[in-house]
Formats: sequence, C-alpha cells, structure tokens
Amino acid sequence: TGHFTLDPGFTSTGSCESQITFIDGEKGVLLHRGYPIDQLAEKSDFLEVCYLLLNGELPTAAELSEYKHTITNHTMIHTQFDRFFDGFRRDAHPMAIVTGAIGALSAFYHDSLDINNPQHRLISAHRLIAKMPTIAARAHKYSIGQPFISPRNDLGYAANFLRMCFAVPAEDYQVQEVMARAMDRIFILHADHEQNASTSTVRLAGSSGANPFACMAAGIACLWGPSHGGANEAALTMLQEIGTVDRIPEYIARAKDKSDPFRLMGFGHRVYKNYDPRATVMQKTCHEVLDAVGAHNDPLLQVAVELERIALEDPYFVEKKLYPNIDFYSGITLKAMGFPTEMFTVLFALARTVGWVAQWQEMIEDPTQRIGRPRQIYTGAAKRDYLPVNKR
Ligand code: CMC
Repeated sequence: TGHFTLDPGFTSTGSCESQITFIDGEKGVLLHRGYPIDQLAEKSDFLEVCYLLLNGELPTAAELSEYKHTITNHTMIHTQFDRFFDGFRRDAHPMAIVTGAIGALSAFYHDSLDINNPQHRLISAHRLIAKMPTIAARAHKYSIGQPFISPRNDLGYAANFLRMCFAVPAEDYQVQEVMARAMDRIFILHADHEQNASTSTVRLAGSSGANPFACMAAGIACLWGPSHGGANEAALTMLQEIGTVDRIPEYIARAKDKSDPFRLMGFGHRVYKNYDPRATVMQKTCHEVLDAVGAHNDPLLQVAVELERIALEDPYFVEKKLYPNIDFYSGITLKAMGFPTEMFTVLFALARTVGWVAQWQEMIEDPTQRIGRPRQIYTGAAKRDYLPVNKR
C-alpha cells in the first residue's frame, strides 16, 4: 500500500501547523490565540475577536477603532451585485444564495485577487468580513420576498446585521441591546474551530492558489451538511419533531439503535469528549434571549433541557462521551431571535468567515506550504484489457 497510511475521516492526521486556535477535546478547552473562548464571549466583541484571529494579538484602542472603521467602510455591496440575487428562485434556500454570492464576489473584485500580494490579501479579508452580513441579510430578505435594507454604518456589526435582516422600509426598527449582544456572542462562539471540515476545505482549495472568494465558497458549501454547520438547523427540527417531554425516551432509544440512522442532533463531536465549552456559553445566551422575548416557557426549551438531562445520564451517551455541542442550544436561541431555520447555517457561515480567512492567510504566508494532495489506497480492478461492446 505504499508509504502512506489510510486514515478515513482524518482522525489521526495533522494537516498543518497553526497558531490560531487550540482545542483540548478531553478537557473541553478552546483557546483563540491563547485566550479562552468563555472570556472572549464574555468580555470581547466579535470584531475584536476577528482582529485577534487575523493578527495574533488583541488590538490597542487605536487599532481597534481603525479596524472597525475599515470594516464599516466595506459593508456596502454594488447595486449591480443585487441583480445576482434575482437569478434565484423566489424561495431559494439562503445557503444556496450565499454559496453562490460569495463565489461571485471574485467576479467583482478581480482587480485585487493576486494572492501573493499582501495588500490584495488584506483587502479581500476586509471585504469578506464586512460584506458577509450584507449578503447574508439579502439572502434572507430575498427568500421571504422583502426589499433589501442597506447597511447602517453607525451601528455595530451585529446590530447592523439584525437591522438588515428584520427592518422593513418606512417602519421604525430599533435593535434591542440584548439581541445585538446575543448575536455578537453567537458570532464569537462560531468564529473559528481549527481544522474542521469546512476550514480544511478552505485550506485545501487555497493550497492550489485559488482566490479567497472561491475558497470561502468552497468552505460554505462544505459547512452546509447536517453533520457540520447544518446541525443547528437539524437540532431545532429534531426538537420540534419531539415536541413534548414525554416523547423524549422514544428518541433516545432511536439514537441508540444501530439499525436506525437517527442521531441526536446537537450531540457529540469529533474532538470534544467533554462538554463543548461553546455550548456552556450558548446555553446561557439562550436563556437570556428567551427571557428577553418572554419565551422562557417555550416547550422547545423544556424539551431541550430535559433531553440534555436524560442523555447526560444515559450509559450509551456517557460511555461514548457524547455531550451537547454548540448547536444544541443555538437553534432555539436563533428561533427566538426571529430567524427562520433556513438562516441558521448562514449565520454560522457568516461568523466562521473570519476563521476561514485567518486560516487561509496563515497557510498562504507559510513558506513550507504546498498543494494539498492526499493519496488513496486503491481497491479497484487490476489491470485488464479493453473489451469491445459486443464482447461484454
Ligand atoms: N447520537 C447518537 N449516537 C451518536 C451521536 C449522536 N449524535 N454521535 C455519535 N454517536 C455514536 C456513533 O453512532 C458511534 O457509535 P459506535 O461507535 O457504536 O458506532 C460513536 O458515537 C462515534 O461516532 P462517530 O460518528 O464515529 O463520530 P465522529 O467523530 O465521526 O462524528 C459528529 C462526530 C459530530 C459528526 C457526530 O457526533 C454527529 O453526527 N453528531 C450529530 C450532528 C451534530 O450535532 N453535528 C454538529 C457538530 S458541532 C458543530 C460543527 O462542527 O459544525
């Protein structure tokens, strides 16, 4: 089988060296550039975390204000780009729109796509982080048939995004502080997660020298699947399907039954064999948002809390070290904030964009970087002679 080893799912292969994110899955630890995720979620804000991920250090006050100013100045998208959205069916899934739109940005900015030029890389990074909320909000507005709302640059990143999603022309719309804070925290929690499937996809796409917008589109496409970014949507759908607390045992039994493909969505993780540290913050944010909208008696929350309690005591989940992951509570929170389930994975993509950009940039700047090219163990037919069609 040659001098390489078979490692399906890459469970024992390190694909790169990185200084961005550290995870200790056994202990449930997640650090960005050394800073614990709970401290960042509690004390920082999303754009500061973006700066940290991209630059390696927390910004000074002057650096932060300049960075925020730069991002704010890139939030607009060209009106010509709006026509791109019109090509989609009126009820298109927003993830389909966002996957296409981010790739299409490379058609708009082809004058600054030299990946070996640090200035080009920088401006692409700014554009991606700044325009993603505008594009995500347009995907939402388009799919519900409402007019687009332009970015308002006097607002913070999360508040501006919420306004673009929920404001309606000619009607007053005030972003509630608790919602803006929750949105910002959800963005922080999703910002990066080392070599997960979508980030590895971005790195692999980028290793060929593809432009950053094309690489991000590849990452978004990968994120869409229910085992990855699609899990928040799947987790909420599951909670809705369970519906009432008395039906939980039936679903727990199904999750344990190996002849049934059903899995408890929002449970388990390739790396965390302990409580996902992001889930702890997410659970708190969930309660804050539900309190703010007066939905703490939401039956979905009751199902979630009870499901978590039962699963954490069940020998199957205990032995396999299956704990709630970030997606377990994010769906309920996003629903309470007013997002339709179709938008959940888009929100994940929006937040993860910075992680993808930071990882892409780190890879491009690494002098040892080569094209990613895994090998395989061939198990097909041995060499044989071609047979004409009348002899087969
Ligand atoms: N419900 C029931 N059983 C499970 C679950 C689950 N959610 N997750 C894993 N298992 C079982 C699995 O059947 C297997 O059992 P056995 O060893 O008897 O065959 C064992 O646990 C190990 O599972 P695996 O599929 O080999 O583990 P993996 O590391 O390949 O998969 C995972 C990780 C996250 C895809 C998986 O746990 C899963 O499908 N979870 C549900 C989807 C989900 O919540 N995904 C979000 C992940 S966090 C956000 C993100 O990364 O995007």
